Amino acid sequence: MKIDDIKTVGVVGAGSMGAGIAQAAAQSGLQVKVVDVSDAVWGRARKTIAKSLERLASKEKITEAQMKEALDAISFSTDVGTLAGVPFIFEAVFEDIGVKKELFAKLDAICGDDVVYASNTSSIAITEMASLVKRPARFVGMHFFNPVPMMRLVEVIPAMQTEKATVDLALAMAAKLGKTPITCKDTPGFVVNRLLIPYMLDAVRLLEAGVASAQDIDTAMKLGAGMPMGPFELMDFTGVEISHLVGEIFHGYTKEARFASPGLLRNMVSAGYLGRKTGKGFYEYPAK
Ligand SMILES: NC(=O)c1ccc[n+]([C@@H]2O[C@H](COP(=O)([O-])OP(=O)(O)OC[C@H]3O[C@@H](n4cnc5c(N)ncnc54)[C@H](O)[C@@H]3O)[C@@H](O)[C@H]2O)c1
Repeated sequence: MKIDDIKTVGVVGAGSMGAGIAQAAAQSGLQVKVVDVSDAVWGRARKTIAKSLERLASKEKITEAQMKEALDAISFSTDVGTLAGVPFIFEAVFEDIGVKKELFAKLDAICGDDVVYASNTSSIAITEMASLVKRPARFVGMHFFNPVPMMRLVEVIPAMQTEKATVDLALAMAAKLGKTPITCKDTPGFVVNRLLIPYMLDAVRLLEAGVASAQDIDTAMKLGAGMPMGPFELMDFTGVEISHLVGEIFHGYTKEARFASPGLLRNMVSAGYLGRKTGKGFYEYPAK
């Protein structure tokens, strides 16, 4: 199968990532079949996609006609069965191996031998997931970044069992979606999070040690290292619990101390200080 043979893709999970992947695929001219567990989820996802496309149209990055075409290219169902015959399926359900395992069993029961499964997992080993499906050679990691319509990188991660043709197809799919792919080995954090998570955890350690305030560390990294956001601004933006949980998962795999979540982070998660979404993280966000 060549990239040009693929006219329709499936996206399972219509959360932050699935909605973004569906939008990118629709904008690249593909028909997109989205599956999630409830119509309410889809209602939210469709609104997000429509808003994002409207913003692009208002900035004249796409025309009104392209906006409408992209929206019309996306269909939705709560039935995994609608993905029968779809040659390339992105998986973006909850980060839970049990949920993913159940989903792939359902997909395996209805999909053809040639189907490619591309998982967007951030922290589960791709090889472990590939071992759950009937044709591990057709399984690959495609790690997108949030928000997908803005972020241009995709990490393509072959499992130990993935065949070259599947990797080539994943690379071509990333390019078709307007992204720049890199390939990397199936190791915790791939490239970006392997560097970024210890960096953020180290920033918390500096704060814990009283070396500088959160604000001064953020200012230092923005003005001194050219980062668009400081580490604390970034953790508040993405959710304080994400750095904690992902760090702990990577620590479980590697036992490397740099991935272990510091006490301050653990306590902030227990207190519900999760960042922007809860109104308080390393900074306060008074309700408008
Ligand atoms: N959020 C990020 O920044 C980010 C970045 C890169 C990768 N990821 C990965 O992407 C995946 C999804 O993350 P997210 O942030 O979009 O999560 P999310 O919680 O926003 O969305 C997950 C969606 O999956 C749906 N879902 C759960 N079980 C399902 C099933 N059996 N069938 C169909 N739909 C089901 C849920 O209803 C939900 O809408 C995870 O594997 C995560 O590790 C997340």
